[in-house]
Amino acid sequence: MLAEGGDHVAAADLMSQALDLAPDWAAGWDLLGGYHDKAGNVAGAISAWRHLEALDDEGVFGARLKLAVHGAGAIGEGTAVSYVEALFDQYATQFENALVNKLEYQVPDLLDALLEQEAARFGIARFDVAFDLGCGTGLMGQRLRDRVEHLEGIDLSAAMIAETARKGVYDRLEKAELVAFLKRHVAEADLVTAADVFIYCGALPPVLDAVVPAMRPGGLLAFSLEAHEGEEPVFLRASLRYAHGVEAARQALIDAGLEILRFESATLRQDRGMPISGLLIVARRPLLLTDY
Ligand SMILES: C[S@@+](CC[C@H](N)C(=O)[O-])C[C@H]1O[C@@H](n2cnc3c(N)ncnc32)[C@H](O)[C@@H]1O
Repeated sequence: MLAEGGDHVAAADLMSQALDLAPDWAAGWDLLGGYHDKAGNVAGAISAWRHLEALDDEGVFGARLKLAVHGAGAIGEGTAVSYVEALFDQYATQFENALVNKLEYQVPDLLDALLEQEAARFGIARFDVAFDLGCGTGLMGQRLRDRVEHLEGIDLSAAMIAETARKGVYDRLEKAELVAFLKRHVAEADLVTAADVFIYCGALPPVLDAVVPAMRPGGLLAFSLEAHEGEEPVFLRASLRYAHGVEAARQALIDAGLEILRFESATLRQDRGMPISGLLIVARRPLLLTDY
């Protein structure tokens, strides 16, 4: 109640008293860190999240990400799996309403339009096998459905998979971490999509190193990134999503051996009243290494 009323100092004080009585309450330490942070007490927030980190072996509360955002730790490699899984498990039932109706989420429509144009350019009327990575509730899959023979959705979150299963959009759904999934599928997909997903995965090169071998030669990859114009290849935002450097992203595609077909700036959605700008990318695995 105090926090909702904007009195984060008083909320932190009360939560500290509660934690004196229940020192192993991980969610309490997480709240305390958030209250301190909102009150401008960064040292207090870092101290609370360090307690949280010690209590939360699986990383469900994302303590490491929160510490990294505040300059108190490295951002780490790859997806913070337990944190992302818990986040979307909680969010699943409200996801579409929040994102589409309130935050003007546009990525599936925008990516689909680019993909349609590029598929036409290469004379692809239908894709045989598509992997929709981080399929969520199926917004991307719904757009792809009519143009794909066998459509697979892959997601970390069982609750998101349950939401999408209800719609019957995909031929197959799998609860899996996307890099682990891709490593088990060599040269299978002629389309791979990831709408608003690599923003949870950190550095792009390890992700592309897993995506490219899973694609058939001549296959297409379509994905979005949140973007920044700075020099870092990737940095973690206060939102706990990664923003990728524009030039680093372009170089990562080239280094992965992909041919860049589209590389466009766009507004992806709103966040706290501000537009989030990003990149929409369509790339192709060349037929032969000498193909481009
Ligand atoms: C913002 S939602 C986007 C969902 C869907 N692609 C869409 O456009 O509506 C991100 C989804 O990616 C999933 N995700 C994030 N990182 C993942 C990973 N490393 N492996 C598998 N799924 C992941 C999350 O569980 C979540 O469902």
